Amino acid sequence: MSQPTRAANQPYVVDVEAGKTYFWCACGLSARQPFCDGSHKASGFEPVAFKAEKSEKKFFCGCKVSQKVPFCDGSHNR
Ligand code: FES
Ligand code: FES
Repeated sequence: MSQPTRAANQPYVVDVEAGKTYFWCACGLSARQPFCDGSHKASGFEPVAFKAEKSEKKFFCGCKVSQKVPFCDGSHNR
């Protein structure tokens, strides 16, 4: 598989809402970062679904190389 596009060099901080499902962009091509907008079609990547258990701040990976997707694990520093 090809490499994802680096959308940002840091995580996106998002206030998620309990009970809502979010689709994190894995390909890095979405114009609605950090979420999928359908741009992955020809990229070979698929979005990663995340269902929020509670309302809180989450750090979604923007560099797309986290080992703990859809969240930042500090890999953007490497
Ligand atoms: Fe990137 Fe859908 S636009 S995974
Ligand atoms: Fe991707 Fe931090 S933004 S690991």
